[in-house]
Amino acid sequence: MKINIAIDGPSAAGKSTVSKRIAEELNYVHLDTGAMYRCCAYTALKHGLSLEDEDAVCALLEKTKIEMTPDGKIYLDGEDVTLAIRDDDVSMAASDVSKLKRVREDLVKRQQEMAKDKGFVMDGRDIGTVVLKDAEVKIYLTASVEARAERRYKQNKEAGILENDLEQIKKDIAARDEQDMNREFSPLRKADDAIEVDSSDLTVDEVIAQIMQYVNQALEKKESHA
Ligand code: DC
Repeated sequence: MKINIAIDGPSAAGKSTVSKRIAEELNYVHLDTGAMYRCCAYTALKHGLSLEDEDAVCALLEKTKIEMTPDGKIYLDGEDVTLAIRDDDVSMAASDVSKLKRVREDLVKRQQEMAKDKGFVMDGRDIGTVVLKDAEVKIYLTASVEARAERRYKQNKEAGILENDLEQIKKDIAARDEQDMNREFSPLRKADDAIEVDSSDLTVDEVIAQIMQYVNQALEKKESHA
């Protein structure tokens, strides 16, 4: 018996890392919805569109194919953009296009179609509140801006990306929080029935262990009702 797991939270809280590991542990499918907003932003930038031009961005998105493979690769109209969409410019641009109502409608529809059945771990900003409202486990994964910036800086350093220093990364994360939490359509917020996990002082393994407890409880509950 399978369930769905929604993991929402602000940028760089570790959602993708944790979701991926949980999906592996349960043999579920991980869907990183942020990557889809990043693809939309990436192609809009590439085509020189204004990120505020909803008609143009939506028309382009409608004919854009986004594919996500089980091994974590992301293809945009056949081009491997797995790394390109992680650029700092694309991060802020993704937050910009995610404000557009029709961009959200298009991507939410794709996400709901992909996760029609159970057995998904989906991470993003509106999964527990909009995309998978009936997910059996909803987690709101958060951490202080300082902890998130330090982790992102370390990740970048390990990946050989030395574009921004720690202070700049902190500023970017705070700006993206502000924009994602205060936009008009589906702003980032904790669903009423989500459990908040603050990972500021926890290791990845500790966060996973905590979430797996909730997952196991939900699975037991489902089995006992079957
Ligand atoms: O999770 P991420 O940092 O890759 O997401 C990039 C941007 O996409 C984020 O700043 C807000 C937007 N986003 C969203 O609005 N809804 C989602 N479900 C996922 C991401």
